[in-house]
Amino acid sequence: HAPVTLTFVDQEWATTTFNQEREQELQQFTRETGIQVKLLPSPESTREQLALWRELLRPGASGPDVYTIDVIWPGILNEDFIDLKPYFANEVSGGFPAITASYTVDNQLVGVPYDANIGLLYYRTDLLREYGYRGPPRTWDELETMAARIQAGERAKGKKEFWGFVWQGAATEALTCNALEWQAAEGGGQVIEKDKTISVNNPDAIRAWQRAARWVGSISPPGEVGYKEWDSLNVWIAGDAAFMRNWTLGYVDSQAAGSPIRNKFDVSLLPGGKAGRVGTLGGTGLAVSRFSAHPREAVELVRYLISRDVQVKRSRLLSEAPTRPELYELPEVIEPNPRFALLSQAFRTGIVARPSNITGKKYEDVSNAYMLAVHSVLTGARSAPEAATALENELVRITGFKKGPPAKGIIKP
Ligand code: GLC
Repeated sequence: HAPVTLTFVDQEWATTTFNQEREQELQQFTRETGIQVKLLPSPESTREQLALWRELLRPGASGPDVYTIDVIWPGILNEDFIDLKPYFANEVSGGFPAITASYTVDNQLVGVPYDANIGLLYYRTDLLREYGYRGPPRTWDELETMAARIQAGERAKGKKEFWGFVWQGAATEALTCNALEWQAAEGGGQVIEKDKTISVNNPDAIRAWQRAARWVGSISPPGEVGYKEWDSLNVWIAGDAAFMRNWTLGYVDSQAAGSPIRNKFDVSLLPGGKAGRVGTLGGTGLAVSRFSAHPREAVELVRYLISRDVQVKRSRLLSEAPTRPELYELPEVIEPNPRFALLSQAFRTGIVARPSNITGKKYEDVSNAYMLAVHSVLTGARSAPEAATALENELVRITGFKKGPPAKGIIKP
């Protein structure tokens, strides 16, 4: 037999450390199994990635065997991937329920959780101390006050480019994630509820959008409405912000040798509101193409990439959060990274999921409409009530679902 070569495409943020680590992982896999792996490059934004994945998954395209999929894609791409449940029964039963649920469509396990991601608050411990705060803000309103005060103080010292809070306000999927966090925490619902009610046009969501619009140009740069993940990370790492909303992956670069804020920051759950404290669930899963000529080998690669050894090593080197609860019990995981305790808790009780599974193939349009509506409020093009009403009607048109109030109570995954 000629040795099998698998093709693998991943949408990971590829830093130098990450690329080196992955190269070693794949070489190790080849040594253990004799299977070669060819890696394809991928574009930066979720939307471009999805377009490329669709292209690669066209019948006859002889695309990759193994793909990572964003946690919001299972309902979009389920027909193109095999059901992994028979191969990963233990991972499914022992996994974080909310994460596993996000990769499951009609009882098909479309992807196996690979990288667990959640929106978090990064904060400057040195500045909090200097301005007399004992800990990070627990509510969004507190964040607003603290950010304004620290910003005023730093500017008075001559740091003219200093900002209180940076986040992701560009009209991309990341804005969907940010805005969902603000509104869900305030009881403003999840845009479309689990029972398919379009709930977005409600006073709590509207107030949460209005508050964020107020941040633009006051505690956040005017250019915030064009910021993606890397833009906010750059301002933050330069030492020019007191707070940042970003994914778990923001940690590695912030703490890298030579980073001006190394050892001057920590990470907490995002601030909350009257309904709780939540971060949007992000991350990727590994999926096997149903067009693959080597599904057996492809499943082997998936099994290797989510193995305990690979995950433990990644948690240490790349600060990647393990995807399986039992890994958080290991001293070699938790001791170098005590903040993982926070993540393991957040993955149980602090997740808000985007309405991707209930809207399936329509999720892209739904998210696009939502993010553009919020963006128009942030830029001042439309008032929040106006944008919410128009969005509600548009979502009815896209999905055919009915309008109604958000689900009541404290958010549970
Ligand atoms: C991160 C998340 C992903 C999300 C994307 C938005 O990569 O892991 O789920 O869709 O950010 O920019």
